[in-house]
Amino acid sequence: VSSYPSHISLLPSVQQCNLTNLPENYFLKYYLYHALTWPQLSFVAVVRSAKPTAYPKVVGYVLAKMEEDPTDGVQHGHITSLSVMRTHRRLGIAEKLMRNSQRAMAEVFNADYVSLHVRVSNAAALHLYRDTLGFAVEKTESKYYADGEDAFAMKMDLKNMQ
Ligand code: ACO
Repeated sequence: VSSYPSHISLLPSVQQCNLTNLPENYFLKYYLYHALTWPQLSFVAVVRSAKPTAYPKVVGYVLAKMEEDPTDGVQHGHITSLSVMRTHRRLGIAEKLMRNSQRAMAEVFNADYVSLHVRVSNAAALHLYRDTLGFAVEKTESKYYADGEDAFAMKMDLKNMQ
């Protein structure tokens, strides 16, 4: 498995991975918008096929952007979506995807911090964000998700990476 910036031709596979792993789904044009506007920030993890001409299989992705109209006026990044296929979990893939994206946010766009939303019941993701990566919960957003579940709004400082 290797991780590298998301290429346009892989976006339908990224969308498929998202559909398999999360209830929050997006039109293909939203993936394209991310890849065309902030090509440095989104990454995929792929398994290469033995056939050199075949497409690599996407087993994980992070879809990320810069906040376009930050309410606090501070330049910052945002993780739109992250997931890893069940077959490839607990191998450090999500951590690597996140660190690559965070580094690019700081180095390319001078982001002061990175934000994201996560379901309050999502123990695995909360572990990754809080304990492995060092995010902190900023606030709870009531009924943030379509099914009525609350979200934790989380943030991590990137100033030391700029
Ligand atoms: N239980 C507890 N902690 C976990 C778990 C788990 N099942 N999975 C990951 N972690 C934590 C651990 O702290 C782990 O470190 P460790 O292995 O040293 O203990 C750390 O995360 C890093 O684990 P990775 O192997 O990098 O994580 P993985 O590649 O398995 O992906 C993810 C984690 C993305 C949460 C995966 O479980 C997944 O795709 N889940 C479904 C989709 C999802 O919930 N995505 C996040 C939604 S929020 C958003 O998109 C902004």
